[in-house]
Order: sequence, then C-alpha cells, then structure tokens
Amino acid sequence: MRLGANLRGTYVSMRTAGASVAEESGLPSYIRFPEWPRPMPGRADGGPVVVTGGAGAIGSTLVRSLVHDGTPVRVLDNLSSGRKESLTAVLGTSGVTLRVADVRNLDEILPDFEGASAVWHLAANPDIRLGTENPSIDLERGTVATFRVLEAARRFDVGRVLFTSSSVIYGLPTTFPTPEEYGPLLPQSQYGASKLASEALLSAFAHSYGMQAYIFRLANVIGPGMTHGILVDLFDKLRKDPTRLPVLGDGRQAKSYLRVEDCVAAMRFVGKTASETVNVYNLGSPDQVSVREIAEIVVAAHGGRARIEYSGGTQGWTGDIPKQWLSVEKLRRLGWSSARTSREAVEMTVRELAGARVA
Ligand SMILES: NC(=O)c1ccc[n+]([C@@H]2O[C@H](COP(=O)([O-])OP(=O)(O)OC[C@H]3O[C@@H](n4cnc5c(N)ncnc54)[C@H](O)[C@@H]3O)[C@@H](O)[C@H]2O)c1
Repeated sequence: MRLGANLRGTYVSMRTAGASVAEESGLPSYIRFPEWPRPMPGRADGGPVVVTGGAGAIGSTLVRSLVHDGTPVRVLDNLSSGRKESLTAVLGTSGVTLRVADVRNLDEILPDFEGASAVWHLAANPDIRLGTENPSIDLERGTVATFRVLEAARRFDVGRVLFTSSSVIYGLPTTFPTPEEYGPLLPQSQYGASKLASEALLSAFAHSYGMQAYIFRLANVIGPGMTHGILVDLFDKLRKDPTRLPVLGDGRQAKSYLRVEDCVAAMRFVGKTASETVNVYNLGSPDQVSVREIAEIVVAAHGGRARIEYSGGTQGWTGDIPKQWLSVEKLRRLGWSSARTSREAVEMTVRELAGARVA
C-alpha cells in the first residue's frame, strides 16, 4: 500500500473519532468549535516540526537553529532554488529528515505532518521578477502551495503554522514607517498578491480549525545562501564586467535590510512569545539604506574601479517597491529588536560576498 493511502486511512480514523464527539452533542460532524482551544485529538504539542523550503537561505538557517535547540525537524523542499548542501551540517543529526517533494502535492507531503507540533511554511518562489514574467508562478508556488500545506496541517491537527510573508503586501504605502494595521493592502506584484492571499488563508484556517497562525512580514533578508536580490545581482554584474555597474532605477529607492540570522531569531522569538490566534508582525531593522548607498558599498568592496550607471526611473523594475520602511514598533514592544542597522547588515553581507569572490 502507498504511504499516502495508508496515511489517509489514519486521517479518516482521527476524523471518525472527532465526529462521534460532535454527534453525541447533536452537531454536524464538521463542527468542532466546542473543543477549541483545548488540544484536538492527535495534536502533538512539543513534537517534531515541519519546515517547508528548509533547504533555502532562510529555511536552512531556521533548520540549523531548531536543530541546535534539540528540536526534531522534517524538511520538505523540492530543491527548485534551495540546495541540499545547505543542510549538510544537520542532515546526519538524529531526528532530522529531508523529503525532496513539492508542497503542492498533498499525498507526497502528508506523511511528514503526522505527529508534528508546528509547520514553518517558507517554500515559495522567492523572486518577484519571475512572477511578473509568468503570472501563474506565484499563484501555484505561493497561494496553492500554502493551501496544500494548511490542508495537510489541518488533517493532522498541527497546532501552529508559521509563515514567511513579505513587506510587499503593503503595495505602495503612504505611511512610514508602515505599521501592521496599514491599509488598504494593494500589492504591486503577483508575488505580493500570493503572499496576501496566503495570509488570508492562514487566518481562515486558524479561525476555522483552532490553529494558531504566525505571519511574518519580512523586510529584505540578506546573508549567506541567497540566490537573488540586489546584492547577488550587483555582484553578478561586476563579475561579468568589473569596469561598470548597471543599476536598475535612479538609485533613490530605499529599503530596510535584515540579516538572515536576525530574521530567524526574530521569527523564533515571536513564535515563542506571541499568543493570539493570528499573530501578524513586521520583521525588519529600524532604518533604511538607499540603492545608491548599496551600489557604492559594493563598488568599494570590489576595488572601487567600476562606474555606477543608473537606468533611471523611480521603480527598479515592474513590481518594485521604491520605498520600503517597516514599523518594527510592535516587534520591539513584544521584546525583540535587531542588534544591527540595515546599513550594518548590508556591509556585513557585502564583506562576505567579496571574501567569497576573492577566495
Ligand atoms: N529573502 C527575502 O528577502 C524575503 C523577503 C520576504 C519574504 N521572503 C520569503 O521567505 C521564504 C524563504 O525565502 P528565501 O529567501 O530563503 O528563498 P529561497 O529560494 O532560498 O528558499 C525557498 C525554498 O523553497 C523551496 N521551494 C520553492 N517552491 C517549492 C515547492 N513548491 N515545494 C517545495 N519546496 C519549494 C526552494 O527550493 C527553496 O529551498 C519565501 O517564502 C520568501 O518568499 C523572503
């Protein structure tokens, strides 16, 4: 018998047990609110955690941090942009597994949700520009993928879902720094639309099935293992032609940057500390850095010879958010703030990239 079919049998028997409780009270079997917020049958508080996208830049940093604290981790990743090597340090560790699977395939991913206490859902297309070229990418790898992960969590009564959303859900905000309550939310990209749709799905599942949801609206996350973003782009360009650095936009775009290890620390802190049914937090540094400053830092690290050439226009590309400055006040009130400014995060990452280039 296939494992998926086997597990579906387990699921059916769990539901049958739940239904009998509801039937005793005369309610239809799908109504389970009287049990909430008590743990549901089959819920494994303190069990292993599932990390989707765990072979990616943020995901592998998260996995290493969880494993360091002794948490058993089940990684689900299709290795479309992640790399198995990013998990080399932990894959031999007891309780750590990697299933190479696409999270859109419910049957393939279900086995890893049985007995899990939480799912960190990071798997997604990480590149905004890719989604503009092909609008179905973010619908499929964002919205549909999130639905499947939530459905798997629901079937096994996984109590907590933690999700990496993005600052781009705010669209082109007019309030700076932008707080979590800002609206209307009008994303400018397919990627932003899929993150916002995913947030809505998390909220709906949390309220309908007694889960707790954590929504992290991330600033630009930078650090080792990144496959895209401004620093990777600029270094790639200088590798091809060290004499000139073409930069998208007029250089005045300004955004917040957060180191990947700080991002993981913040997510884990919020996951341990916040206790609402749906917990929405901006994660970023308190300041911004302009594209012009970043280009200058990169050129200096590259020997200072390249001429910076701006393409012009306020937006770097279709879907780009020229000014991104998240309010991190709610996060600070909860008890966490980044030890590094955006500029320090950029300088540290540039040093690492320049070191890797020289090595
Ligand atoms: N890096 C940032 O600046 C930033 C900002 C905001 C939000 N995020 C979000 O954080 C998450 C992680 O981003 P990252 O920068 O580490 O990117 P990444 O590309 O390094 O990680 C994404 C991981 O998901 C995997 N994946 C993608 N589609 C999958 C699928 N259908 N099934 C299984 N695995 C799949 C990839 O192989 C990869 O390992 C993403 O959800 C991204 O949208 C990132």
